[in-house]
Amino acid sequence: MNATTDLARADLAAASSLPSFDSLFGLPGDVPHERVLLTSDPASGLKTIIAVHSTARGPAFGGCRLWSYADDASALTDALRLAQGMSLKNALADLPFGGGKAVILKPAGDFDRGELFASFGRAVQSLHGSYITAEDVGSSTADMRRVQQETRYVSGIPRDGGFGGDPSPYTALGVFVAIKTGAQLRLRRSSLDGLRVAIQGLGAVGMHLAALLHAAGAKLIVADVMPQRVTEACDRFGAQALASSEIHAAEADVLAPCALGAALNATTVRHVRARMVAGAANNQLASLGDGDVLHEQGVTLLPDFLVNAGGIISVAREYLGEGAKAAVTAEVSRIGERVAELLERSAMQNCPPARVAEAWAREKLARAA
Ligand code: NAI
Repeated sequence: MNATTDLARADLAAASSLPSFDSLFGLPGDVPHERVLLTSDPASGLKTIIAVHSTARGPAFGGCRLWSYADDASALTDALRLAQGMSLKNALADLPFGGGKAVILKPAGDFDRGELFASFGRAVQSLHGSYITAEDVGSSTADMRRVQQETRYVSGIPRDGGFGGDPSPYTALGVFVAIKTGAQLRLRRSSLDGLRVAIQGLGAVGMHLAALLHAAGAKLIVADVMPQRVTEACDRFGAQALASSEIHAAEADVLAPCALGAALNATTVRHVRARMVAGAANNQLASLGDGDVLHEQGVTLLPDFLVNAGGIISVAREYLGEGAKAAVTAEVSRIGERVAELLERSAMQNCPPARVAEAWAREKLARAA
C-alpha cells in the first residue's frame, strides 16, 4: 500500500520525522510551492517527491529524475529547485503550463524498473492532472511508456507515425540556436566556423549538441565521466578530450554545461576562461551571486531556463496533440529571438542576464497569477 504525504496539507507533527529543511514549502526567497507530494511504496521500492511549484499558467509540467541522492533532504532540495526552474522556463517559452518536477530516489540494490515506474505513474495520477511528467536524467521513453499505463498525465513517448518521444534532440537544437545568436551578438562571430566550444557532459543532449556544432564547423573540447562517450566524440567529431575536473576552465570561446546542476559555483566560476556560457544543464548556477561574478569577469551567461527549453516545448506540443516536426523545430528556433531580447534588456539595464531573465519570467508568472 502506498503511503502518501501531501506536504501542502500535512500538519507539522506529521512532518516532524522528515529531515530538517529551511522550509518544507519552498526555497528561501522564492514564492512558495503550491504542493509537494511525498509518496513511498515499499512493494516497488518507490520513494518519490513531486514538487508542484506553480499552476498559474496551467498544469505544472516537468520531467522525472531518477537519481541516487546523498540523503532525503538533498532530493527535496533538488525537486524544489528544479520545479521552480520549470515555472521560469515554461513562462519564458510562452507555454500554457506551470512548473513542476518529480524526483525518484533510486533504490539501493536490485529493483524492478517496470514496477517502480508503474508505482510512480499512480503517484502522478493521484494529482489528477495538476502535474504532468516526462523523462529527465535517469529516466527514459521506455519508463514513460510504463507510466502511461497508470496515468494519461505523461508525455515524451514515441508515437507510431506521429510526433513525440525523446525530447533531447530539441533541447540540443535550442542550445545550438542560443549559442549561434549569442556568438553573433556578443562574440561578433557571423558563423560558428572555428568557434571553440567546451562541452561538459556528452549524454543525450551533449552528444546531439556536439553533432550540431561539429556540422557548423565548431572546434570541440569535451569531457564526460564516462570515457566511452569521450572516445565517441573524439572519433566522430575530432574533439579534443579534457578531464572532467578541468573542463570548466577550458581555453574556449563558449562553455556548454550539459551534465548536472551547480557546475558554476564558488570554486569554478573564477576559473572560467570562455567568454560565453550556454548549455543544457538545469540549475547551472549554484547561486545567482555566481552569475554576478561571471558578469563581472566579462563572461556572458545565457541562463539555462531560457536556452534549454527545446525539450519541454517538444513534450508540451506532443502532450497537447499539436506536435509536428517542422512546427516544433520553428518554435524551438525562436529561443534565438529570446536570447537576442535578453541580451538587449541586459545591456539596457546594465544587469547580468541571469537576473534579467529571472525577473522577466517572474513578471510573466505574476501576470498569469
Ligand atoms: P544524460 O544523463 O543523458 O547526460 C549527462 C551526461 O553528463 C552523462 O554522459 C554523464 O556521464 C555526464 N556527467 C555527469 N557528471 C559529469 C561531470 N562531473 N563531468 C562531466 N560529465 C559528467 O542527461 P541529458 O538528458 O543529456 O541532460 C543533461 C542536462 O540537461 C541535465 O542537467 C538535464 O536536467 C538537462 N536537461 C535535459 C533535457 C533533455 O531534453 N534531456 C531538457 C532540459 C534540460
